[in-house]
Amino acid sequence: MELNIQNNAILETQQGYAKRVLSLAANTYGTCPKACVLTFGCQQNVSDSERLKGMLFEMGYTIVDSMENADFIIFNTCAVREHAEDRVFGNIGMTKQIKKDRPNTLVAVCGCMVQQKHIAEKIKKSYPYVDIVMGTHVEHRLPEFIYKKLSGAKRIFELSMEDNTIVEDIPIKRDGKFKGWLPIMYGCNNFCTYCIVPYVRGRERSREPQKIVEEFKQMIKDGYKDITLLGQNVNSYGKGASHGVNFAKLLRMLNDVPGEFVIRFMTSHPKDCTIELLDTIKECKKVSRHLHLPFQSGSSRILKLMNRYYDREQYLQLIKNAKERIPEVDLTSDIIVGFPGETYEDFKDTLSVVTEVKFASLFTFIYSKRRGTPASVMEDNITRAEKGKWFSELLLAQEKVALENINKFIGNTYRVLCDDYSEREGYMLGHTSGTAVIEFEGDKSLLGKFVNVKVESYNNGLCGKII
Ligand code: 5AD
Ligand code: SF4
Repeated sequence: MELNIQNNAILETQQGYAKRVLSLAANTYGTCPKACVLTFGCQQNVSDSERLKGMLFEMGYTIVDSMENADFIIFNTCAVREHAEDRVFGNIGMTKQIKKDRPNTLVAVCGCMVQQKHIAEKIKKSYPYVDIVMGTHVEHRLPEFIYKKLSGAKRIFELSMEDNTIVEDIPIKRDGKFKGWLPIMYGCNNFCTYCIVPYVRGRERSREPQKIVEEFKQMIKDGYKDITLLGQNVNSYGKGASHGVNFAKLLRMLNDVPGEFVIRFMTSHPKDCTIELLDTIKECKKVSRHLHLPFQSGSSRILKLMNRYYDREQYLQLIKNAKERIPEVDLTSDIIVGFPGETYEDFKDTLSVVTEVKFASLFTFIYSKRRGTPASVMEDNITRAEKGKWFSELLLAQEKVALENINKFIGNTYRVLCDDYSEREGYMLGHTSGTAVIEFEGDKSLLGKFVNVKVESYNNGLCGKII
């Protein structure tokens, strides 16, 4: 999809509002208003929240962790499963008392959840103390919405979706110092039958490659050493655009940037994981040795019902290709248990993929019915209790695999980025370019540095020594 470039005008308008909020908010709250951004769901939301914080910072807000003292509270929500939505409503409910105590506090809700009509209606009717509801395509207009509310406007519900625009250069306040997120594309065209994402995030659209490279280089300059490229379907990056840069080419461009760093990416769709991409990962040494390839189900029958565009055999062949080309690769996956119509036989096909592939780790979910998706009207006869039993069986199978996996680390040396303290006094944690975390003796002077660590033992985690 070709993008609609009207960026500067959009940015200038919002910067104008931000300046006006700066003085309005100071009058309303005193010199330093506080904002709390609460994030639910995936890394895309975490990244979007970093931009919300960037805009709030520009408007003069100090970012705080708790809603208790905040003058502006925003919930960045997730709609992928019902459980996430329930948690959000619980949290929004808590702001009722806060607004009673401090009526000037503004409460906003954004993200995937509110892009569903029935949820926006529910907030309108049952949560009258929510001031601003903004959809996934208008989050860059936060300064405008806050300005309007501070100037006495009624409640704001802005949920329009214009798919061919990406707003660039929104201010950003990143959470991490060494690890950072970098969105490369937005939306999804795949319409897996269980998934709400294409409805709430809109059609797939990719950022221009030069914009990504620019931001990437700036992050490296700012000290980031581990950068994750984000998208619902990262490996379909660039499809339909005239610049001709696909995901593999983008990885090569970033790999060529000088410096020591790790480039990660998620999420990849198995159908777009080409041999070209596998060869690129193999050849580009700064690209992470990790492939997250959600297979969702090991049953070809269920995969068809899920509209996944591959079957069991194709997935296993892909894994074989990946392991042949990149033997050291860590594989991870997402699995859904209890999709409508799934039988125990189908589930056993999922189990056998888990034991065969030997994933480093898994993200496992019980199917959650999402209103408006094709799967929501499919017959679903398996009880929640039965699905729960299958789910436990799956976790047990993965636990066994994980224990077997440990042996491959012992005795090997890894280049790790030291990026956190260990709970053990005098020890630090480092991440390999795959998914492993290794604990080793060291102090805070190592934070943000790459070191070589030899794995010596396993004690509730991998333990090693700097060499
Ligand atoms: N129910 C359960 N899990 C889901 N996912 C997406 N939609 C649903 C749903 N309706 C899972 C998929 C996806 C991950 C991000 O969330 O496994 O890969
Ligand atoms: Fe949802 Fe499928 Fe798109 Fe992933 S690829 S966001 S599971 S529709």
